[in-house]
Amino acid sequence: MGIATFPESILATPLKPLAEKVVLVTGGSRGIGRAICRELSQRGAIVAINYRQSRALAENLGEQIRHTGEECEIFQGDVSDRVQARRVVHDVLDHFHHVDVLVNNAGITRDRSFRKMTDEEWLEVIDTNLNSVFYCTSAVLPAMIERNYGRIVNIASFVGQSGNFGQVNYSASKGGVIAFTKALALELAKHNITVNAISPGFTSTDMVSAVPSEVKGQLLSRIPLRRFAEPEEIAKAVAFLICDGDYITGQQINVNGGIYM
Ligand SMILES: NC(=O)c1ccc[n+]([C@@H]2O[C@H](COP(=O)([O-])OP(=O)(O)OC[C@H]3O[C@@H](n4cnc5c(N)ncnc54)[C@H](OP(=O)(O)O)[C@@H]3O)[C@@H](O)[C@H]2O)c1
Repeated sequence: MGIATFPESILATPLKPLAEKVVLVTGGSRGIGRAICRELSQRGAIVAINYRQSRALAENLGEQIRHTGEECEIFQGDVSDRVQARRVVHDVLDHFHHVDVLVNNAGITRDRSFRKMTDEEWLEVIDTNLNSVFYCTSAVLPAMIERNYGRIVNIASFVGQSGNFGQVNYSASKGGVIAFTKALALELAKHNITVNAISPGFTSTDMVSAVPSEVKGQLLSRIPLRRFAEPEEIAKAVAFLICDGDYITGQQINVNGGIYM
C-alpha cells in the first residue's frame, strides 16, 4: 500500500491566505477597524494600524497581534487632514515597502437635524468619512499600480443608501463613499486593483453605545434580525472580499441584519 497522498489543491490551500500581504486599516484602534485588524492578522496579514487619538488602545491591539506571532506596526495620524493622511500612507510605504490592501474604515458621526446642523458638523463628517478616503486612496495608488495588485475596501453604511433622520451629513458622506467605490473600480480594474464597499448596519461599537437607550430600543425594532452586528461580523465580510473576492469589484455589500434590503 502506497503512502497516502492529498490532492494538490488541498496541499495548496494556504492556512494563512494573507501571508506577506501588507494591509493598512484607517481607524484601527477601536470598533470595526480593530476587528478588521485582528481578522486580517489571523489570516496572516501584516497589519498597519492607523489611529488618531486612542494611542493606548492601538498599542494594546499591537501587543495582542504580536503575541499571536503576526507582524504589525502602528501609525498615528488624522486621516481627515490631507497632509496627515498622505503622511500616514507614505510612512507605511517607507516601513513595509508596499501596501497590498487599504481598508478605509475611519469614520465619525455628528448627528443633528439638518436645520440645526453647523458648518463644523457638516465639514468634520465629510472630511473624516469621505475626504479621508480620497486622500488615503490617492496616496497609496501609485504603489499598487506599480505592482499591478491592490484591494481597496471602503467601510460605508446602509445609511448611505437609505438616509437616516438626523444624519444628513453622515448619509451624504457614506453615499459619496459608495459612488466613489463604483467610479474608482471602473478606472482601476485594468491594474488588477479591486474597489469595493461594505455597508454595515448598526454595529456594537462606541459609535452605537453613544446612542441613548430608548433610541437603541427603537433601532433594534427596525432590524429584522433583532440585534446589532458584532464588529467581527463586519470584519469577516472584509476578509471575504480580500481573500476570496478576486472577481468582485465595484460592489457594495450590505451586512446589516436586514434593516435595508
Ligand atoms: N458602528 C456602526 O453602527 C456603524 C454602522 C455603519 C457604518 N459604520 C462605519 O464603520 C466605521 C467604523 O465605525 P465604528 O463603529 O467602529 O466607530 P468607532 O467605534 O467610533 O471607531 C472609530 C475609529 O475611527 C478612528 N478615527 C476616527 N476619526 C479618525 C481620523 N480623523 N483619523 C484616524 N482615525 C480616526 C478612531 O480612532 P481614535 O479613537 O484614535 O480617534 C477609531 O479607531 C466608520 O466608517 C463608520 O461610519 C459604523
